[in-house]
Amino acid sequence: MKLSGNTILITGGNGGIGLALTKAFTKAENTVIICGRNEASLQFAKSGNDNIITKQCDLTQQAERDELVQWILQNYPSFNVIINNAGIFEETDLLSDSFDLDKINKQLVIDLQVPIELCLRFLPHLRKQPHAAIVNITSGLVYAPEAGAPFYGVAKAGVHAFTQTARYQLRDTKLKVFEVLPPLVDTGGVSKQLDIEKLGGAMDADETADEILKGLSHDTEEIRIGDIKWLYAASRIAPEFTNKKVNEKAEKARQSDNH
Ligand SMILES: NC(=O)c1ccc[n+]([C@@H]2O[C@H](COP(=O)([O-])OP(=O)(O)OC[C@H]3O[C@@H](n4cnc5c(N)ncnc54)[C@H](OP(=O)(O)O)[C@@H]3O)[C@@H](O)[C@H]2O)c1
Repeated sequence: MKLSGNTILITGGNGGIGLALTKAFTKAENTVIICGRNEASLQFAKSGNDNIITKQCDLTQQAERDELVQWILQNYPSFNVIINNAGIFEETDLLSDSFDLDKINKQLVIDLQVPIELCLRFLPHLRKQPHAAIVNITSGLVYAPEAGAPFYGVAKAGVHAFTQTARYQLRDTKLKVFEVLPPLVDTGGVSKQLDIEKLGGAMDADETADEILKGLSHDTEEIRIGDIKWLYAASRIAPEFTNKKVNEKAEKARQSDNH
């Protein structure tokens, strides 16, 4: 896809990988609309830049999603790229005696329902644009789910499947459909619950954004970043072994945390 002159919505463009993407796309001369719950971090991301438009929005709330969609369609006719980035990472111990179903449902809403719903609600508009793209940020864990975070895995695998099916159905349109599969990225958000050192290090968010832009500029449909290239290959050659290795590594990091 072309990397400049777009009007891009980045959900969660005020933090972590989203903020790095906001900076990179603004530098490349795009108009960037960002949404998130935290007004202070939205304003920090904007830092007075007229090419960054902010909208406070809790995407888990249906009424706020409705308002966001209407506001964009009414005010930004040139809107042509959506980056579904906002997400949360929660762990769930399936050996517990009870489960916080509200928390699990909330994770499924932000990580699974929201990206699919935003794609569907913007599709008719995006298909009319001369250049348009959907970019869904999932995770390398779609190739080997991490047992400690089962519902994160469920959600990301769901978006992965939706992205593949959308790409196939839309193959004869001008709308391009991309998926980004990041490795562990040091964002203080999704990665904050994990011991980065014990997991062998994490990628820098700005470096991740650069890799994403590079992949988009080459029209790479599944943009596998850093170690995820190897994880993908390993999961194809030896899926059970790869699953075991991913989980052993994560478990070790957790066990040594507890001691
Ligand atoms: N970091 C990693 O290691 C990693 C690895 C693979 C994939 N990913 C994926 O990359 C994406 C970004 O991850 P990250 O690490 O950059 O996360 P992050 O640092 O926690 O940032 C998440 C962003 O999403 C926004 N957000 C969260 N809940 C929201 C809600 N209910 N409504 C609106 N905005 C919401 C947050 O803004 P507010 O707090 O203001 O709402 C924030 O800007 C996620 O989809 C994640 O699954 C991350």
